[in-house]
Amino acid sequence: VTTIFYGPIINPISLTSYSALPRCLLAVDALGNVDWIVEDVAPYELQSTLAAKGKPDANVVDLKDGEFIIPGFIDTHTHAPQVPNMGTGGQYQLLDWLQTLTFPMEAKFEDIKFARSTYASVVKRTVNAGTTTCCYYGTLHLEATKILADIVHSLGQRAFVGKCNMNRESPSYYVEPSVDSSVNATRDLIAHIRALSQSSAAADQEPLVQPIITPRFAISCTDDLLMELGSLVSEDPSLRIQTHISENLSEIDFTLSLFPSASTYAGVYDSFGLLRSNTILAHAVHLSEDEIDLIKARGSGISHCPTSNFNLSSGVAPIGHYLDKGLKVGLGTDVAGGFNISILNAIQNASVAAKVCSFQARDSSTLQPAQQEFANKALSIPTLLYLATAGGAAVCGLENQVGSFAPGKSFDALLVSVREEAGNGGLWGLAGSLSSDVSEDERKKLLEGWLERFLFCGDDRNISRVYVQGRFIGGKAFRS
Ligand code: GUN
Ligand code: FE
Repeated sequence: VTTIFYGPIINPISLTSYSALPRCLLAVDALGNVDWIVEDVAPYELQSTLAAKGKPDANVVDLKDGEFIIPGFIDTHTHAPQVPNMGTGGQYQLLDWLQTLTFPMEAKFEDIKFARSTYASVVKRTVNAGTTTCCYYGTLHLEATKILADIVHSLGQRAFVGKCNMNRESPSYYVEPSVDSSVNATRDLIAHIRALSQSSAAADQEPLVQPIITPRFAISCTDDLLMELGSLVSEDPSLRIQTHISENLSEIDFTLSLFPSASTYAGVYDSFGLLRSNTILAHAVHLSEDEIDLIKARGSGISHCPTSNFNLSSGVAPIGHYLDKGLKVGLGTDVAGGFNISILNAIQNASVAAKVCSFQARDSSTLQPAQQEFANKALSIPTLLYLATAGGAAVCGLENQVGSFAPGKSFDALLVSVREEAGNGGLWGLAGSLSSDVSEDERKKLLEGWLERFLFCGDDRNISRVYVQGRFIGGKAFRS
């Protein structure tokens, strides 16, 4: 079965550009991959184009005026068990916040009934918010994290699911007893998740749900544990790694005191073989130039979590500078450091963060002027869109599979509606109608206006349909 969509499509191209295609024809094959794309088809050309593609009688999904398709959002960093705490704790900074609110909540996931009901609602909400690929931290519990992976698998979201490794510097009620138990549980989770997808993955593609190695952060892990995790990933280089780095100044000081032989925070991870091209580093608010160079050399990616960085008073990550340096960057919600489950909110705060950063007039005198394309400036709409989609895909090592539309890539997509009936004020009414008789240039401008309004004042009411690997799995139309 092939599904063919006809209507406006937004396709990210690079950090500085995207295509706005008001009359695009896009076909999805039976495996859920994009089959072909014809970028500009006038209504009177529709039948002949379908015939030329060998699909004269195809059933075409005709988008309504005020609807458009974009690649699904990629959340490169969130904590599923912290969702019940979302919206609280903004009076704390990181280390106090962990002790006071976060560890007590995560400890509750020892109760698998609580885990099952909480995770079912968390994953549904995340899908309905338009997140088609999600990097989830679970808790330290093996059983609860298996349940999280099971739920993600059954709902059809694309995700990386990790069990926190943490064997020190947390309260006695919430810490792993030994290196062995931590590593064995990690191996058990890897086997469980890989068995889940055995039956369903197409041979040439990575499965939808994958395990990810999750040393919570250096403070939580002894040298021995980090060393064991380093050897685990060297045995199996396809394994992704996710962790936190340089989020908060007190955290950095404490980290360096725990690892006296390392000269930097990034150096700690690197010394255990944990800085790899498939490592996702969350926050990176306070990196030194040496650390930036090291991360660049290793090819690791940054998960920019601006909402959390504001909320926990961590600071403002100089994302424009990282982009100038050529680091891979995606966006993360970091719930419940962040107070919103939606990548739309991360986009909005990434925009604000870049402006705050530009006010501080960061000293980038070490850079050649030609390298300063992004630092000390607002991030443009193409850049924000890219970070939320293709940039996140690169951070996850999925750049050939998701993040934009191209033949052979997975159809992970959102059908967005800015129509009046979406119920949040008729963003479309303000941005104008495509159906009126306008030039091609004006059509593109209108579509760009819809996208901009959606990114800055849209919410899950505007996300009608969510597709992962061609499958309709969520959104407003799925619920009703
Ligand atoms: N560092 C270690 N654990 C956490 C966490 O749960 N959230 C955030 N934001 N930072 C962390
Ligand atoms: Fe986090």
